[in-house]
Amino acid sequence: MKDIKDLKVLIDTDTLHKRIKILADEINAFYGVENPLTLICILRGAVMFYTELAKHLKMPVKMEFVTLSSYGNSDKSSGKVKAVNLALPDLENQNALIVEDIIDTGLTLDFLLKFIKTNCKVYDVKLAVLFDKKCARKFDIEPDFYAFEMDDKFIVGFGLDYNGFYRNLNYVGYFE
Ligand code: IMP
Ligand code: MG
Repeated sequence: MKDIKDLKVLIDTDTLHKRIKILADEINAFYGVENPLTLICILRGAVMFYTELAKHLKMPVKMEFVTLSSYGNSDKSSGKVKAVNLALPDLENQNALIVEDIIDTGLTLDFLLKFIKTNCKVYDVKLAVLFDKKCARKFDIEPDFYAFEMDDKFIVGFGLDYNGFYRNLNYVGYFE
């Protein structure tokens, strides 16, 4: 168990909130405020980013949730995506935006994107992530919207966990 005393603040709450508001404005401008959007949250990591982002969206929004797991109980990806809950409705003729905490190798989002395109009859699906670890990418996939670029360090807080803990922190930190 890592000790919270060794956790250093990397991005404070105010910076997170301000940047997410700007990203939401970008998304409002891209889709237009008249066009309905289905917002798909990847539980559990995206939960904080998802709610903060959703507050600032101005179009009619539907909220959907899936639960995926790729990390298991460590800070290294297991290389496999476990689909814990993939119950999505038919998204026929809809714009969908997947909301994820972080894109690392790209495995999780590659998996979900393919699943939605194959099974949900979606009109269009795009990706919004809080953090983009560009240097860790192994799959040919890029987010359409991202809030922060991140170097290859393991971070926690604001939804991101280590062994299931620290998701509730209102800031993002790293262990020294
Ligand atoms: P990917 O499938 O390799 O892109 O990994 C994405 C998933 O790994 C994310 O949904 C996170 O749950 C987890 N992850 C990747 N990097 C970090 C990190 O620095 N801290 C906590 N979780 C992470
Ligand atoms: Mg995750």
